Amino acid sequence: MDFNEVISKRKTSREWTDKDIDFAVIKRIIEVGMKAPSWDHYRNWQFIVLHTKEEKENAFSYAKFIAEKFDITKYQNRKLNLAQKMYAYAMPKQYTMLVDCPYVIVPLFKCNKLNAEWVSKLNPLTTAWCVTENIMLAVINEGLGYSLRIPLNKEHNIVLDRLCVPAGWMTPCFIGVGYPKEDELILEQYDTKPDNNIHLGVW
Ligand SMILES: Cc1cc2nc3c(=O)[nH]c(=O)nc-3n(C[C@H](O)[C@H](O)[C@H](O)COP(=O)(O)O)c2cc1C
Repeated sequence: MDFNEVISKRKTSREWTDKDIDFAVIKRIIEVGMKAPSWDHYRNWQFIVLHTKEEKENAFSYAKFIAEKFDITKYQNRKLNLAQKMYAYAMPKQYTMLVDCPYVIVPLFKCNKLNAEWVSKLNPLTTAWCVTENIMLAVINEGLGYSLRIPLNKEHNIVLDRLCVPAGWMTPCFIGVGYPKEDELILEQYDTKPDNNIHLGVW
């Protein structure tokens, strides 16, 4: 797929068909992730790949709890901005968008504790997001779709414990990969024209 087509087709998906994916495709996608820029030159990333229903259910019980306790009535019968509409749409799907797709990739980066004193201290996390973006674009390039969940607070440790990840590793997110339902609702997005976002010379 042409680069601009990949960029313009990229979106987050949360509903899936039953179609499975060949593991060779997942390996190709992860290889694109491995090509991401790396702050420490080591490309020190690992990837847990979940495929069976049991593996996904075991990992994401906390997301199930979050999705089930979400109170949609707070978002009904009032005017919502685009971000609130997206939130109200996405929250009830935080579990199913991970367990109903054939694969979930959990990227892992080496880090004992995050330090946000300066942006440069966050390089381990930042570089893991470079990996994640590469993976998301590779998924689109394969004609597939992805869902993305960032673990909420203690959910991070709960999931890593369930996956038997050794101490000293963290994850930025969980990436579901599958064939998106073609009729999934597409929510309106803010304009991406950059004219009002560019400052020449100084702000
Ligand atoms: C840092 C980051 C965190 C996100 N966290 C979640 C999440 O936890 N759950 C979810 O459903 N989507 C999540 N998203 C996806 C956003 O909701 C989505 O990218 C945004 O609404 C724009 O829609 P689009 O990706 O379809 O263009 C996240 C995206 C980013 C970049």
